[in-house]
This record gives sequence, C-alpha cells and structure tokens, in this order.
Amino acid sequence: MIAILDFGSQFCHLILKKLRYLKIPAKIFPFDVKAEVLQQHNVKGIIFSGGPRSIYEPNAPHPDPKIYALNLPILGICYGSNLVAAHFGGDVKRTGKAEYGIETLYVTNLNHPLMKGLQKEEQVLMSHGDNIEQLPPTAQLLGKTKKVIAAFAIDDKKAYGVQFHPEVHHTPHGALLLENFTKICNVEKTDLHEDFIEKQVTEIKNTVKEDEHVLVAVSGGVDSTVTALIIAKAVPNRLHAIFINNGLLRKNEAEEVNEMYKHLFPQSNYYYVDASEKFLSRLRDVTDPQKKRLIIGQTFNEVYGELVKELRSKGINLKYLGQGTIYPDRIESAAPSKQASKIKQHHNLVPLPKYLNLQLIEPLKDLFKFEVREIGKRLGLSEKFIKRHPFPGPGLAVRCLGQLTKERLDTLREADAILHELVLKYDLYDTVWQSFAVLLPVKTVGVQGDERTYREVIAIRIVESVDAMTATVPELPWEFLKECAQRIVDEVPGVNRVVLDITSKPPATIEWE
Ligand code: XMP
Repeated sequence: MIAILDFGSQFCHLILKKLRYLKIPAKIFPFDVKAEVLQQHNVKGIIFSGGPRSIYEPNAPHPDPKIYALNLPILGICYGSNLVAAHFGGDVKRTGKAEYGIETLYVTNLNHPLMKGLQKEEQVLMSHGDNIEQLPPTAQLLGKTKKVIAAFAIDDKKAYGVQFHPEVHHTPHGALLLENFTKICNVEKTDLHEDFIEKQVTEIKNTVKEDEHVLVAVSGGVDSTVTALIIAKAVPNRLHAIFINNGLLRKNEAEEVNEMYKHLFPQSNYYYVDASEKFLSRLRDVTDPQKKRLIIGQTFNEVYGELVKELRSKGINLKYLGQGTIYPDRIESAAPSKQASKIKQHHNLVPLPKYLNLQLIEPLKDLFKFEVREIGKRLGLSEKFIKRHPFPGPGLAVRCLGQLTKERLDTLREADAILHELVLKYDLYDTVWQSFAVLLPVKTVGVQGDERTYREVIAIRIVESVDAMTATVPELPWEFLKECAQRIVDEVPGVNRVVLDITSKPPATIEWE
C-alpha cells in the first residue's frame, strides 16, 4: 500500500480519493508516524502531503527521520516537496515567488517515469509561499513554472517532489502523475472493495447481539439505502427501516421511493411516515436558512423518537441507529473550526437526542461517494437509482425562498419536474452534478394573453462538480434554456419569469440557502 503522511493539507483526503479511484490501496497516517509502523503495514511507497507551514518554522511538522532510511520511494507534494528537497541538501526559501492558483507547468523531462504521459505544458494548481531555490546535488529538474522549480527527481534515492497539487481537480493530469508514482513503487491495482460487503456484514453481526435491533432512517438517497441493505444482510429480521415524508420532497418522490422500499424491505419492518403537516406547520414562517435546517433536524429526530418509543413499547430491544455517513461527511464535520467557518448547518449533524439511547452503526464511513455507488450496484440497486443527483436533507426547504407553504412548494415541484424532464431530454443528467429549480421570494410583472401578471420567479441551478466542495456552471444549450423558460412559464401557475444562476462555488454555494 501507499502511505500518505498528513502534514496538515486541506487536500490530504483528495490524495486518498485519487488513489482509490486508481484502485491503489492507500492509507492516511499522521505526519509523525514511526517508520516501524509503516513497515508493519507493508508500505511500498510514501507520499508527503502539503501543509500550511514553512519547513524552517520552529514547530513545523517533520517526519520520523528513520523514514528516509526505509529506502522506499517518497513523493513530496508542495510542503512535502520542500521537506524532501531540504532533506537531501536542497535550499528552500521564502523568496516572494509565491503562487496561488492555476499555473502552467513546463515539463522538462517527458521521459522520466514520474512524468510519462504528460504534455510539455500542463495546467497545475499551485498554492505555496515557499519555494525550492536550489535542488539537492544529485536531483534532476523535471518541470518548472515561470517562477519556480515545480518538479524534481533524485533517482538514486527514489525521492521525488512536486510543488503543485496533483490531487486536485484543477490539475487535470495529476492522477496520471500519481499513477506513475505508484508504478515506481510497484504497487498493483486491486479491487479494493471485493469483500467490503461481507466484512461489514460480519462486523455488524459481531456487534449486534441476538436480541438487539437496528433502526435506519432511509431517505431515498443512495447512502442511506445502501446502509440499510448492508445491515439487512447482517440482521435480516432485526432491521427496521423508516422513511419519513417531510413534505419537502420533489414531485412524486415520496410515492416512488415508498414503492421501491416496499419491495426492498419486509413489510413488517418497514415504516412509511407522512409527517409533512408536522414539518410544514413548524416551517411556515421561518425564512432564516439556519433556523430551517435546525427545525428540520429536530423534527426528524422527534419523528424517529416516536417510532423508537413505539417499537420499544412492543418489547423490541432497539439498540442501534444505522447511518449513511460517508467519508467526506466526516471530513466536513471535523473541519478544523479555527480556520473553517461554518457555512451551513447540515441537518444530519444535529446531534441525536441522548434520550433515544441509540448507538451508531456507520458501515460506509470510510467510503467516497463513487465507492458507495459501486457497492450499491453490487447490492443490486438499479443504475438509474445509483446515478441520482444528490438531494439535500432539508429538501425543497432550502430551494423555496420565502414563506414555506404547500402551495409555493407545489409551484416549485412543478417547475423542478419540468426542468428534470428537459435535463433528461437534452442528455445533461449524467454530465452534471446537480440540476434543480429554486423558487424566489420576489414577484415580477409580466404579460400573458394580453393581461398583466404579477407572479413569482424560478431560478435554474445546474452545476458541475466532483465533490461539491467547489462547483462551476457548464455552458448549456440555448435551445434547452429557451424550452425550460417557455414550458415553466406556460405550465406552472404562479410563475411568469425564469432566470439562470451562473455563479460558481465559491463565491456562491450550490444550494441557495
Ligand atoms: P452547498 O449548497 O453547501 O452544497 O454548496 C454542497 C452539497 O451538499 C448538499 N447539501 C446538503 N446535504 N444536508 C444535506 O444532506 C444539507 O443541509 C445540505 N446542504 C447542501 C447540496 O445539495 C450539494 O450537493
């Protein structure tokens, strides 16, 4: 496997993700992991991640020096490349040649095993204050930008460094470079999740005792559904799946998802709860996005709580709650609060009330979304279901700006359904991350059938993204946009104008609230 040493980079998990895409076994270790620990893990190559510090700062993180003596290939990224260069006798300085953003890499040795397959000029993402002024004595230059040394190799030491970030989306051929490094390390690609389902099933069987039961709240999304199916495999008659209709789902969604779940779970252990009135009565006059999320989270907890009480009153020993938490959820919720400001209160982070006394089971907690989809396929879920766009827990509440009434939500549902139909018709669905309609809290003047109208506005939001942390708006076919505007205004009562949101994330977020 490849060991990734975490020197504090916000992109560390992306290195792991890229390697997992490549089907290369890898694991993140703290930067000061002992060399012996890496040996115990049968590590064949090491990546030093980037980091926010300067290597000569008093408390800058350094690896265990014995790591260099393991004689394993090492690839340093950004801060990591500075460590490697300095260790082997190079000179790293803060020279004022900082680069933050997209730069051009000029590859100076296309034949080097690390650079194979790259072009002479490559787009790369740079984010550094320090740079390598002088390479170590036996190092050779592999690439540079206009300002700095950007890639090098010390072949006799099997040590390599890149000042840019190959792990991010903005370095389009970064995965190729990482793959080249894994080849230098002689690490084979493998089916990383061949026995994932079996392993999880065994673990759950070992955790949940004979008389204990598990509750899973299924939302109609891939993560919670896959979680429930894995738990159902482990404790078939002791899994209870609850699907709550919060009145904030898309057109026909509650009925369709309910129908699917009726076939997936035994009738006696599946509960459909229509709590839409409860949710809507509490949300009606709430317009603050954070308050909406909080109320939704609390109401969800209350509804689960009622089922928990009911089941326990029947003598069922409900001990666990299965949750579809995935690896990026954990990264986001653990985001270092000192630097990272809280952008949104994700509803699933509202703490579970202690009085429910349930322990968590999270079989997907180490997987990325693309891996959950793969597992879903192996469990027999349809391609169509697996490819569904992500849908936020607070549902249409964060897309219906202003008063949250059933009428306004229905208006939004109709517009969103038309948009969805056209996204499919124009073959856009599989190429974008999300596509949806937003109902704005403004009325504008229009004219329809010679009459003045004063109605609401729908915004179209379509974004491309790889991980939802950043997003861009693709160029969309003009015919498609015209048809959206025409059909929404013609067919949705109460709407007389359609606008297109063309803002990236950042500075905007994907959802409007
Ligand atoms: P933003 O709007 O923050 O969204 O750019 C990033 C991704 O997360 C989804 N999202 C949520 N998912 N609960 C969720 O489960 C939430 O409160 C929530 N808010 C946003 C959003 O749809 C996008 O894919």
